[in-house]
Amino acid sequence: MPEADHDGLPDYRAVGRHAVFPNADHDQTERFNFLARLNRHLASVVLPGVADAYRQRVEPAFEHAQGRKPAHRREARQALAAEPLYQTWSALRRNTMEMRQQAGLSLVLGQRDQLIGETRRLIDEGRLRLDPQVRIPHYLSAVDHHCMPGSYYTERTADDVTAAANYDAGMFVTTGGMLGRYTDGGGRGMVEYMRRRHPNWRPRRILDLGCGLGHNVLPIAEAFADAEVVAVDVAAPMLRYGAARAASLGVDNVVFAQADAADLAEFDAASFDWIQSTMFLHETSCRALRRIMSETRRMIAPGGFVIHIEQPQYDADMPIFEQVMRDWDAFNNNEPFWTKLHDVDLDQYMIDAGFERHELFHGGVTAVVDRELFPDAADDNAEDYGRKAAWHITGAHV
Ligand SMILES: C[S@@+](CC[C@H](N)C(=O)[O-])C[C@H]1O[C@@H](n2cnc3c(N)ncnc32)[C@H](O)[C@@H]1O
Repeated sequence: MPEADHDGLPDYRAVGRHAVFPNADHDQTERFNFLARLNRHLASVVLPGVADAYRQRVEPAFEHAQGRKPAHRREARQALAAEPLYQTWSALRRNTMEMRQQAGLSLVLGQRDQLIGETRRLIDEGRLRLDPQVRIPHYLSAVDHHCMPGSYYTERTADDVTAAANYDAGMFVTTGGMLGRYTDGGGRGMVEYMRRRHPNWRPRRILDLGCGLGHNVLPIAEAFADAEVVAVDVAAPMLRYGAARAASLGVDNVVFAQADAADLAEFDAASFDWIQSTMFLHETSCRALRRIMSETRRMIAPGGFVIHIEQPQYDADMPIFEQVMRDWDAFNNNEPFWTKLHDVDLDQYMIDAGFERHELFHGGVTAVVDRELFPDAADDNAEDYGRKAAWHITGAHV
């Protein structure tokens, strides 16, 4: 059975499995393989053509009409919208998202009862804390994020986990395996980042905000096995599945708790020495962001770290074409807060929440390459932030 094929994309059969990972038959597997390759084709063959079209046709036409180049990504996006190659790329990309959701959801709905049964069997009561009083924030319920029907939180039946199983099954497809078999390369990168900079640091209590099904918090919990880890999310299906997945993978120091990261009164002041989030802030709102920052300031213990990992902010150095491409999800993939989050001054939000400017730091994390998927990959776990880094860190050491 091939683990990698001619174009370097791993076969879906190489995905990391655990006891609640959905099974895929031959056709379902090949549907995922097809989608991963279509994604790759769009990114590596069609998108460079769009970049050429922007440079050779769209930007010169704009300049001809306006007497200047586009000054903001809004102008560039509007100009690009009339370019046929962009339209083709964009429509196909949107289509792959919809097909990926259809493929994933049909896969998991067909085995819903087994998935729920297995989850129930695996969950250790002490490792899952659900709170039916927790309300889904409006910004989350307003749209189905990245075209996921029912988003993260919809429960189609009692103890449902299908939203999470669909998310888990499809991440390997949309990322082309670049985050590893267990989609945990970002969490592994974070562990390396902290170990390099603070080799003797031993956090005792760690809080992960918007943990989802725990992809990126498990490597942290494994690396700091003596720490007590609390992973919070508002979505019960993600937490149930996350707790079962952790148990199946032998990670037993994480409690998955249902809570709104903007209101964590149940946790004491100065009670965590590492608070972190991975790819979470862009799915909130300006109001929630202020409250999340204040809560982290309240809960962080002296000497502790608050770290948020996100895709890079749109700064003045980022070419406008790149900004337009990065912003595609906001307009075409149900990510309504994406543009705003990447435009705001996150440092200022942290300072407004009570952090001191001298406590703030920045950096970058690249996903640790999964050598079993990519044995020949170059070691590009670049330590310093640059365009190669997948994620940007905004942090504070108090
Ligand atoms: C893109 S996922 C990130 C998952 C995870 N951090 C990871 O690295 O795989 C965002 C998660 O944030 C959760 N979420 C959104 N708003 C929240 C809030 N106010 N409090 C807690 N969780 C929230 C969603 O339910 C979703 O599971």
